[in-house]
Amino acid sequence: MNIVTIMGSHRNGKHTQKALDYFLDRIEGTHSIENINVNKVEIRHCLACDYCLKHQGECVIKDDDMKSIYEKIEESDLFVIATPVYFSAFPSKIKTLIDRTQVLYNLEDRSIIKNKDLVVIGVGGAPKYGRQFQAIENTLEFYTRYLNCNQLGFVKFSHSDDVAALENDEKLAELNALAEMVNQKHLS
Ligand SMILES: Cc1cc2nc3c(=O)[nH]c(=O)nc-3n(C[C@H](O)[C@H](O)[C@H](O)COP(=O)(O)O)c2cc1C
Repeated sequence: MNIVTIMGSHRNGKHTQKALDYFLDRIEGTHSIENINVNKVEIRHCLACDYCLKHQGECVIKDDDMKSIYEKIEESDLFVIATPVYFSAFPSKIKTLIDRTQVLYNLEDRSIIKNKDLVVIGVGGAPKYGRQFQAIENTLEFYTRYLNCNQLGFVKFSHSDDVAALENDEKLAELNALAEMVNQKHLS
């Protein structure tokens, strides 16, 4: 299967990256993996120009990394979004990437986008609070629909500023269970 991940933390190698790697390490079998790290790609902001309405599947911005990212997302079988919470929402770099997928949202025929499983990993530094992941969930509601995603689960790490993701046994157990679910589906 084709696995595509987005690592949305502005810090490489911290809790979001570690939780993502933990999950990926538990996926069995031989797969192609494309890791999109928001710190290593150049993505300009959506201009809201509607070019992609008139030019189906094309963005007016041609000189950044989004073209290959569209193709990776379209062709993925398993899509993994790992993101921290900044001001109770997606951080700006991954939000810029999400906004640019307006190109796929505006497709009249979205059948070119493969049906895919989606796993979401959220990391909030503060202790768990009521709407810590709410804004992220709202955004993902559209994503799951128009990117033909079947969301398998959303693992929410709270309190990462004091409890390292890799020490949060309850959430690691949830990642283990999700990896097991993926293995069952894609190895059989
Ligand atoms: C600009 C900024 C805003 C943040 N806002 C929140 C917040 O609203 N809620 C929360 O739980 N944590 C918040 N945090 C804490 C991060 O979610 C936390 O440090 C997380 O571990 C960052 O992910 P990383 O370890 O992969 O870098 C914020 C951090 C930054 C830098």
